[in-house]
Amino acid sequence: MFRSQVLRQLARSARVQAPRVAAAAPHNAARPFSSAPARLNKGTNPEDDIENATTSSEPGASGDHEGQYARTQDDIRVEYPEEKDLPRSLPVQGRGGSHFKRTLATFSLDGRVGVVTGGARGLGLVMAQALVASGADVALVDMNREEAQRSAQQLVDTFKEENPDAERLPKVTAHFCDVSSPTSVNQSLAEILKVHGKVDNLVTSAGFTENYNAIDYPHDRMQKLWGVNVDGTYMYAVAVAKHLMERKAPGSIVMIGSMSGSIVNVPQPQAPYNAAKAAVRHLASSLAVEWAHAGIRVNCISPGYMLTALTKKILDDNPELQKQWTSLIPVGKMGRPEDLMGAVTFLSSDASNYVTGADLRVDGAYTCT
Ligand SMILES: NC(=O)c1ccc[n+]([C@@H]2O[C@H](COP(=O)([O-])OP(=O)(O)OC[C@H]3O[C@@H](n4cnc5c(N)ncnc54)[C@H](O)[C@@H]3O)[C@@H](O)[C@H]2O)c1
Repeated sequence: MFRSQVLRQLARSARVQAPRVAAAAPHNAARPFSSAPARLNKGTNPEDDIENATTSSEPGASGDHEGQYARTQDDIRVEYPEEKDLPRSLPVQGRGGSHFKRTLATFSLDGRVGVVTGGARGLGLVMAQALVASGADVALVDMNREEAQRSAQQLVDTFKEENPDAERLPKVTAHFCDVSSPTSVNQSLAEILKVHGKVDNLVTSAGFTENYNAIDYPHDRMQKLWGVNVDGTYMYAVAVAKHLMERKAPGSIVMIGSMSGSIVNVPQPQAPYNAAKAAVRHLASSLAVEWAHAGIRVNCISPGYMLTALTKKILDDNPELQKQWTSLIPVGKMGRPEDLMGAVTFLSSDASNYVTGADLRVDGAYTCT
C-alpha cells in the first residue's frame, strides 16, 4: 500500500476512534448502541426484554429460544452406513446429448482424461458424467469396485442414449482404490495410466461425513474420516501432479470440499468433518501456489446441502432436519447433484485458465448469511 494511503487510513481510523463529545440530546432521542449505560436495576420495564438479549444478562434470561438457530445439538448422531446399506445412484437424464446452441469452445474437454475419486455414486458420479458429456474419457475410482463398474457402464449407456449419432463412445473405466492408503492410490493410478495412457484432470469426491458430538466422537472414526477426506484428497492430488510434471503437461485438479469448510452446520454436530473440509479448501490454495509453475491448476468446489441418495436416506430418517436445513438456505432449496455439473466442467476446462486456488461455493448462498 502507498504511504499516502497508509497515512489517510491512519487519519481516518484516528477520527473513528476519537472519543465522542456527549451532545446535548433530547431525553427521548434514540440512543446509539455504544453509549447505552449498564442497567443495574432490572425490573418490569419493557426495555428489559431488549437488555436481556444482551451480554449484560444471564444465559436464558430472554427465553428458551436463545441461540436456537445457531447451535449444534449433542444428541444428533448419524453414522456413515455400512457398504451394504448404501443406496445406489444413477446418472442423471437429459443433461447431456448433442446440441447446437452456441457456447465457448474453451469449455470442451475433448481429448482429455479425467479421474474422479468416489465416482461410483453420489456427486462424484454426476460430476464424472459432466466430464464425459463435455468430451473427456473418465476413470472412476472407488472403494466399491462393483458399484464403480456398474456406474461406468451406465455412464456409457446414458451417453449412447443421449448421443445416438456419436462417432466415438467415451472410454469410462472403473478402478478399486482406498484413497486413504498411499499404496492403493499409487496402484490405482498405475492401472489407470495403463488403460488410458495419461491423466489430465482429477476430481476428488471420495469423502464422507458422520455426526457425533465432539466429546463422544470415537477416535478411530475420526481418524478414518480425516484419512479419507484429507489424506485421500492430498495423496491423489500429489500422485496426479507427479504424473503431469513427468509428462510436462498442464492439468486441472478440482477438490470437493464443502461449505462446512467455511461455516459450522447446525443442528448436527460434525466438528471433525468441518475441520477436514477447511483443510481441503486450504490444500487447494496451497497446492495451487506450489504447482503454478508447472501449469497445474488446483481449485476447490464447496457444495452446500445437496440431495444425493445418501442425504435423502439421512433426511428420511430425520425429517425435522430437512426443515431446519432449508430454512437456513437463502435460495430455500437443497441443491441437486447436477447443479455441480457446470462448476466442475468450468474448473476442469480451459474456460477457467486463470482460475487457480479458488473456492467455488455452490450452496444457494448459505454461506452468505
Ligand atoms: N452430499 C452433500 O450434501 C455434500 C455436500 C458437501 C460436500 N459433499 C462432499 O462431496 C463428496 C461426495 O459426497 P456424496 O454425497 O456424493 O457421498 P456418497 O457417499 O454418495 O459418495 C461417496 C463415494 O466415495 C466412496 N468412498 C468412500 N470412502 C472411500 C475411500 N476411502 N476410497 C475411495 N472411495 C471412497 C464411496 O464408496 C462413495 O461411492 C464428499 O467429499 C462429501 O463430503 C457432499
